[in-house]
Amino acid sequence: MTSPTPQWLPWRTAMQQALYGPGGFFLRERPAGHFRTSVHVSRLYAEAVAELLCRVDSALGHPGELVFTDMAAGGGELCAGVLDALPPGVAARVRPYAVDLSPRPAGLDPRITWAAETPRNVRGLLFANEWLDNVPLDVAEADEDGAVRYVEVRTSDGAERLGAEVDSADAQWLRRWWPALSPGERAEIGRPRDEAWAAAAASLADGLAVAVDYCHVLAERPPYGTLTGYRAGRQVPPVPDGTCDLTAHVAADSLPGGVRVAQRDALRALGLTAARPPLALATTSPADYVRALSAASEAAALISPTTLGTFTWSLTPTPSLAPLAGTLS
Ligand SMILES: C[S@@+](CC[C@H](N)C(=O)[O-])C[C@H]1O[C@@H](n2cnc3c(N)ncnc32)[C@H](O)[C@@H]1O
Repeated sequence: MTSPTPQWLPWRTAMQQALYGPGGFFLRERPAGHFRTSVHVSRLYAEAVAELLCRVDSALGHPGELVFTDMAAGGGELCAGVLDALPPGVAARVRPYAVDLSPRPAGLDPRITWAAETPRNVRGLLFANEWLDNVPLDVAEADEDGAVRYVEVRTSDGAERLGAEVDSADAQWLRRWWPALSPGERAEIGRPRDEAWAAAAASLADGLAVAVDYCHVLAERPPYGTLTGYRAGRQVPPVPDGTCDLTAHVAADSLPGGVRVAQRDALRALGLTAARPPLALATTSPADYVRALSAASEAAALISPTTLGTFTWSLTPTPSLAPLAGTLS
């Protein structure tokens, strides 16, 4: 847990402390204990990412060492699932990394290197599922005179007040990506996410970086922001006291170098289908029919037009991987 002494802090500092400071939420807790991501919904997700890794491998000309980086790995479930799903010829050349700030989970596949930072200057695929929404960011609000100020939050109970006017770097980001706030309207300043994503993508000497998240773009910014909390499967008020996840949607269009694709389209392009199995299978092989039906319903959840299917895949390829990125939309 974080310090019991209540403090007024700008949101970015409060989030940083609550999630990643000493005893912070994500240093103690595994995501799967509090919310479900696509990774937890179905092994089909890892199979689709394994298929993408195979395509990256082909585009890179089957290098002797192919790096797969599960960025912000949580419990490392995606990395383990991808390893299980790879054909042996690719698995033999893969160097799997699970990158997270939390300690290595007990029982994780020993082939996986657990690290706090991305491996650098490597060739392969970096995949970051629901990372950027947890990168701490500042919240700004227009006061009654229209001046845009940082929102400060009290760490003990989430009470808020307005602080100083935003600095010039944040003002510049807001002008470009979240402009024209009316008094009382809020913006979540995505600059730290843009910087984090640029640094992660730059860890690849050659390859493809993919960030997947719930997102919005300029034409549809939410007027009062999206910051919220999750604890033990429930949405809760965002109090930065270290007891809950704190998350805000990602401004996908401000991320550098990205081609944006809806998750439902990317997964379909990677071969995922939610088609019902033929009814005849129920007679000839009932067990196979039940298995296929269950896989179809898991696939439907991953490509759902109201939930996970609407997530955005932001694809940042090095130049040689740009054609592959184009095939996913
Ligand atoms: C929402 S969870 C996603 C976990 C996993 N990718 C999944 O889909 O289940 C976000 C994770 O990002 C990790 N994280 C946040 N910032 C990070 C950073 N700078 N480096 C590595 N991991 C980070 C947190 O520790 C947390 O485990």
